[in-house]
Amino acid sequence: MNLLVIGSGGREHALVSKLKENNKVEKIYCIPGNPGIAELAECVEIDSMDNNALTAFAAAHNISLTVVGPEMPLSNGVVDAFRAKGLTCFGPTQAAARIESSKTFAKELMEKYDIPTAKFAVFNHADAAKDYLKIQGAPVVVKADGLAAGKGVVVAMTLEEALAAVDMIMSDGVFGQAGSQVVIEEFLVGEEASILAFTDGKTIIPMVAAQDHKRVYDNDQGPNTGGMGAYAPAPVITPAIREQVLKEILEPTIKAMEREGCPYSGCLYLGLIMTDDGPKVIEFNARFGDPETQVVLPLLKSDLVTVMEACINGTLTDTAVEWKEEAAVCIVLAAGGYPAEYRKGDSIHGIEEAQRQGAYVFHAGTVSQNGQVVTNGGRVLGVTATSKDILQAVEKAYKAVEKIKFNGMHYRSDIAHRAIKR
Ligand code: AMP
Ligand code: GLY
Repeated sequence: MNLLVIGSGGREHALVSKLKENNKVEKIYCIPGNPGIAELAECVEIDSMDNNALTAFAAAHNISLTVVGPEMPLSNGVVDAFRAKGLTCFGPTQAAARIESSKTFAKELMEKYDIPTAKFAVFNHADAAKDYLKIQGAPVVVKADGLAAGKGVVVAMTLEEALAAVDMIMSDGVFGQAGSQVVIEEFLVGEEASILAFTDGKTIIPMVAAQDHKRVYDNDQGPNTGGMGAYAPAPVITPAIREQVLKEILEPTIKAMEREGCPYSGCLYLGLIMTDDGPKVIEFNARFGDPETQVVLPLLKSDLVTVMEACINGTLTDTAVEWKEEAAVCIVLAAGGYPAEYRKGDSIHGIEEAQRQGAYVFHAGTVSQNGQVVTNGGRVLGVTATSKDILQAVEKAYKAVEKIKFNGMHYRSDIAHRAIKR
């Protein structure tokens, strides 16, 4: 069978690697892909927001399963377009993807169905939002309603920062339509974790829990990034907490989506914070997380194609989803300057040597130039190692990282520190 993956990052590289393990898979196409993915799949330049072009490609290339990585095509209705043409596509519909594409939708859903999350208020006008902030005070969290490429959230420690965030999001129109509403949230304190889950709309099966590292520097210092590394399983999610999350958050959310007339199938990403009052939802995403996917999928023992087909066919309850008794660590290698303006076009050396150490080297921001792989994004590579425990996985991942060099390269040296401390 032929498969199609949509997207171009480390997440999609990890998806392609895992899907390729199924021996019925003859060929994988990736739109648009990257140089790492190109070693496993045929990369094709098509606009991932052009649903007609995507469905035409899938029909012409006899694709039996399409997997969508990023949120933009999902919120652009790619799954609806595939279904309308009788094509099989893993992911939520446009209406279901609102759980990520509209924070207001997600918060109101949680409020209506008693799913634990931060208290919140929604505003359509900057003045009203600011009046509310002046009463609430700081710390407080200000979020753009819509998709903002991970930049629409400001955790404000002072009232001034919070007021400036409202201007940044609403008045200045940096986010366009995505910033026409703001959500103001209670500031929650606790350790964070991510749980990705497979769901067919009725059954939901959580994957091994992961932890991302959002700050750019060691000891969680410096500005936020798209994620500087991850590890799984995250011991903060004990078996008891996992059960609590399943019963109090994941299952009620899936039921709520069905009741609201937009049943959710695909991968549901749950961002959690472990407060003194128990686990609460920070956010939902309508897709696999990145870099979390780069540590979670290498630990999956079951066949990913089978699990995804079960999510689409509504047979997940009859499908075993099994995990290796191992740990995985992913170190993100970032470009000089990232997360501010960063360098591009630097030659990357040592990828093969790193792979010879037994690591996966997932490409994120790379491009091929005259036969040489060069940097082309803020997060350039994700180096993942698996081993029998977290300590050994960390050691193996950093040994592989040492083999890779490019000008300006930087990375955190403390990925998985919380798990190691435990
Ligand atoms: P998000 O884009 O919603 O994942 O938010 C980005 C980051 O902001 C999260 O990973 C948290 O660290 C932080 N954050 C978001 N909402 C809250 C909240 N209500 N309280 C504290 N921190 C938050
Ligand atoms: N790692 C956070 C995300 O994928 O949104």
